[in-house]
Amino acid sequence: MPTDAPSDAFVRAMPKVELHLHIEGTLEPATMLALAERNRVALPWADVDALRAAYAFVDLQSFLDVYYAGASALQHAEDFHDLAWAWCERAAADNVQHAEIFFDPQTHTDRGIALDVVVEGLVAALARARTELGLTAALIPCFLRHLSGEAATATYLDCRRLGSHFAAFGLDSSERDRPPRLFADVFARLRADGFRAVAHAGEEGPPAYITEALDVLKVARIDHGVRCLEDPDLVRRLARDAIPLTVCPLSNVRLRVFDRIEDHNLRALLDAGLVATVNSDDPAYFGGYMSDNFLAVTHGLGLDHAALRRLGEHGIAASFADAARKAELGAALQAHFAAAHD
Ligand code: HPA
Ligand code: ZN
Repeated sequence: MPTDAPSDAFVRAMPKVELHLHIEGTLEPATMLALAERNRVALPWADVDALRAAYAFVDLQSFLDVYYAGASALQHAEDFHDLAWAWCERAAADNVQHAEIFFDPQTHTDRGIALDVVVEGLVAALARARTELGLTAALIPCFLRHLSGEAATATYLDCRRLGSHFAAFGLDSSERDRPPRLFADVFARLRADGFRAVAHAGEEGPPAYITEALDVLKVARIDHGVRCLEDPDLVRRLARDAIPLTVCPLSNVRLRVFDRIEDHNLRALLDAGLVATVNSDDPAYFGGYMSDNFLAVTHGLGLDHAALRRLGEHGIAASFADAARKAELGAALQAHFAAAHD
């Protein structure tokens, strides 16, 4: 194994698995404004420059306010298709080979867009990605945690009809003062129906929210989870039970979870034996897709080939792909690192 730093070309070409991506967070500024005009949706920004100026986020909520406003430009199944297809092409250029993609049903249904419209567009794009790009992907609907547990249950019952398209259910949006236990009922229900669960926890919220997501919601993965290092007992548990963390480095810097990429705790998470993965979260808002995130931690934290390979292996292990697909993904990763010897 070479001891020199991985080249940028090597990082870009590395086969990748993306497990923490909000499809609404892939809406690029120019696309958002063009869609808003086409669909006659009024947005508070006159042009791309004004919109970009609104991207000076100070925390999660300041981002979410822009993100939900932007999502209102999406109206028709075709819009959701075009959004997801643009992401698939962009992801394939970063050699993303498998993805489990979040979307927020309530962001759309609460403004009168039927769930079926959203899912129709997204599913069509993902089917096309499989045949045209060799990219396998599944969807994960997330409940908005700034809304009620009852609203989440109503959303779940709407989603359940379309359940064959979904790899799991998740929980996202504002984390502060919105503990996972508020959603105990809906998660008990969906797990009883045989669905897997994931949840955002420990991004801005305390490590106790990670523990609660595991104990109460019984999630299989934690999205973000970076604040786990504040609780050594929790770290031991996450390591012992090999609970994956879907870490999003550039998101964490843009939302001020860490001041600089050099301060990110990804290396400490790996050193603690955790199944940490690298993901992009909302790439159109946070300045980077998958390769950008991998390059940021490679340079910012001085990761070597062995660390990159571990991150790649973690992504495969943490995914909900079936055993045959995991074997294919593993073979591609192995071949990429074997070529690094040449
Ligand atoms: N955290 C919580 N909710 C979100 C995020 C995030 O990083 N991105 C989109 N919705
Ligand atoms: Zn997220």
